[in-house]
Amino acid sequence: MSGKNVTEVVQADPKGIALAAQILESGGVVAVPTETVYGLAARADSPDAVAKIYAAKGRPDFNPLIVHVQDQDHAAQYAEWGPSARLAVQTIWPGPITLVVPAKPDANLAPAVTAGLNTVAVRSPGHPVMRQLLGAVDFPLAAPSANRSGFISPTTAAHVLSSLDGRIDLVLDGGPTQAGVESTILAIRDGGVWEELRPGPIDLSALHRECFGTPMSVPKPSVGAKVGVEAPGQLASHYAPGKPIRLNALDRNPQEFVIGFGSIPGDVTLSASGNVEEAAARLYDCLHVAAASDFEKIAIAPVPKDGIGRAINDRLGRAAAPID
Ligand code: TXA
Ligand code: MG
Repeated sequence: MSGKNVTEVVQADPKGIALAAQILESGGVVAVPTETVYGLAARADSPDAVAKIYAAKGRPDFNPLIVHVQDQDHAAQYAEWGPSARLAVQTIWPGPITLVVPAKPDANLAPAVTAGLNTVAVRSPGHPVMRQLLGAVDFPLAAPSANRSGFISPTTAAHVLSSLDGRIDLVLDGGPTQAGVESTILAIRDGGVWEELRPGPIDLSALHRECFGTPMSVPKPSVGAKVGVEAPGQLASHYAPGKPIRLNALDRNPQEFVIGFGSIPGDVTLSASGNVEEAAARLYDCLHVAAASDFEKIAIAPVPKDGIGRAINDRLGRAAAPID
């Protein structure tokens, strides 16, 4: 390794954002910070640009992308945006929640964005850099997490380069991301029924109670439905550091790099004070450090499952799953 980056990294100042907008306009792919993780953005209305996302990530083409928009009015250009959707995002957008709703048949989106589904995932991100970028262009941005498919998600520009250097046009460096785990994904089904497709920073049970005053019911999969195919990114192995992981570790075995939490110190810690928000923000950085270490295996201390701890445990379970 020469140590020199092939992909250019620029600060996310007005000049950098203008350069990113120009590259996106002409069909390029740019890694951009959001409040959750870095995304790999391309214009969602261009089949060629969207194809570059799949190619750079090595992402299977059956796994659809999230369409990032400025606000609800823009979402309504691409999605059937009914009262349930409005209610769900009214206090949270811009923010870390993605809605899966029926796609508008006449939406001008590259077909690969929805991977042939009749639904579309939309999100209005809260990060100021991503918002300025969306304001600078006149098309929506398709953006999955900016990592090679199946590997650890990026929360810094350096993480992006560790798997995509030389495969993308630019990295817009806005510093470490804040929430640290990907957006909560909420599907709104027929009749306005809510279904959580991915746990994340927003607690859907609490939100449902706020919106409707009732607990969230769990819809039963319809007969013959292929559970998991609809949100393929949620299947088995994902976020994987390429080494065996032992979860809920209370002690250390030889050859293990230990990621601690609370009273279990480790080689690095998710949060010495046992704070789950801090643990979420540090999760992927700790996994990147563990992956790059000389140790053959990784052990991770238990993390409580409350609040964003549920999303952390979801990601850890997938990171530990064997790659098939
Ligand atoms: O926080 C986030 O959501 C980040 C930032 C960059 O916005 N993005 C992100 O994208 O996590 P990605 O591609 O890594 O994860 C998107 C997930 C995948 O599991 C995909 O299968 C699911 O959303 N998805 C996309 N469109 C869908 C649809 N129409 N129906 C069901 N699931 C969908
Ligand atoms: Mg991802």
